[in-house]
Amino acid sequence: MAILSETDVNEECLVGEWVKLAELKEDSGKPKEALSLYHKAVRAEPDNLEIRCKYALCCAMCGRAEKAIDLLCEILDNNSEYMLALESLGKVMAYLGYQCGSKGWFTLYESGFLYRTIQSLESDAPVIVELGSCFGLSSMIIAKALKNKPNAKIYCVDAWEGDGSSVFGDTREFIQGQAQEGLKFIDIFKGNMERAGVLHQLTPTQGYTTEVVKTWQEQADIVFVDADHSYEGVRADVKNWKDFVKVGGLLLMHDVELLEAGSKKDSGPGLVVQEFLGDDSNYAPGILVDTLYAAERIK
Ligand SMILES: C[S@@+](CC[C@H](N)C(=O)[O-])C[C@H]1O[C@@H](n2cnc3c(N)ncnc32)[C@H](O)[C@@H]1O
Repeated sequence: MAILSETDVNEECLVGEWVKLAELKEDSGKPKEALSLYHKAVRAEPDNLEIRCKYALCCAMCGRAEKAIDLLCEILDNNSEYMLALESLGKVMAYLGYQCGSKGWFTLYESGFLYRTIQSLESDAPVIVELGSCFGLSSMIIAKALKNKPNAKIYCVDAWEGDGSSVFGDTREFIQGQAQEGLKFIDIFKGNMERAGVLHQLTPTQGYTTEVVKTWQEQADIVFVDADHSYEGVRADVKNWKDFVKVGGLLLMHDVELLEAGSKKDSGPGLVVQEFLGDDSNYAPGILVDTLYAAERIK
C-alpha cells in the first residue's frame, strides 16, 4: 500500500478544490479564471488525464482551440483508448463548428475519431474526397486535421441544391428561408468555412455524386460517404467510388447502423456495408465508432 506524506495529502486535497472552483468559474462564465486554476492542477498532477482534458476544454473556451486540440492529441498519442480525450476532442470540434455556423450530425466520438483518422494519414499530400458536405462540419474537421499539410487536397462534393431539395426536414426549411434572403446553400457552406479559417484548404465541387464520378480521375487516401442516405443512394456512392480509394486508404461512411453491432436496425448505409464490404471484398472488416464506419482497402 502506498503511504502518502502529509504534503501529498494536502496537495491532493488542494487539486480537488482547484478543479471544483474552476468548474464553478466556468459555469459562471469566467473561463479565463478557470483556466489558471486548471493549469495549477495540471502542474500538480501531470498524470491526471481527466484534469488535463478539462484544462484542454477550458483552453478552447478561452479562444485557444489549437492548443486544446494539441493537448488532447498528446493525451491520445500516449493513451489511444482514453475515450474522455476523444470525446473532449469532439467537443472542441463541435464548439468550432458552432462558432462558424456549421451545424452537423456527428456525435462527439465521431468528430474526435474523424479528426484522429485524418491526422494519422502518413502521406504529406493526402487526397480526401468528401461526398456530402452540407454546412461543413466534417469538412472543417478534416481541414483542421490537415492544417500542417499544405499540399493536401480536400474535395467537398455536394449538390447544395439552392431550393433545399437535396436535404430534408428542418434543413430544407432553413435553406429555403435563406434562399428567400438571397443566400445560396453553397455560399452558406463557403461562409462557414471562411469563418472557420479553412476555406483555402478546400475544393468545393458542386454536383450530384453520381454525376461528378463520371469524370473523376484521382485516387484518394480517403473517400468519405455522407451524401444521399437512402439505401439506393449510399449503394450507388459506394459502388461508384470505392475503387477510387488507394490500396492502404480508407473508405469512411456515416450513419452505419448494424443489428449485429447492437443497433435497433440495419440502416441503409449499414445494409450497404454488409453488401459491399464483406469478407470477399477488397476491404478489410471495418471499425465502427458510434455510426462512423472506417474500412481499409487491402487490395
Ligand atoms: C448529412 S449531410 C452531410 C453532412 C456533413 N458531412 C457533415 O458531417 O457536416 C448530406 C449532404 O449531402 C448532400 N447530398 C444529398 N444527396 C446528394 C447527392 N446525390 N449528391 C451530392 N450531394 C448530395 C446534401 O445536399 C447534404 O448537404
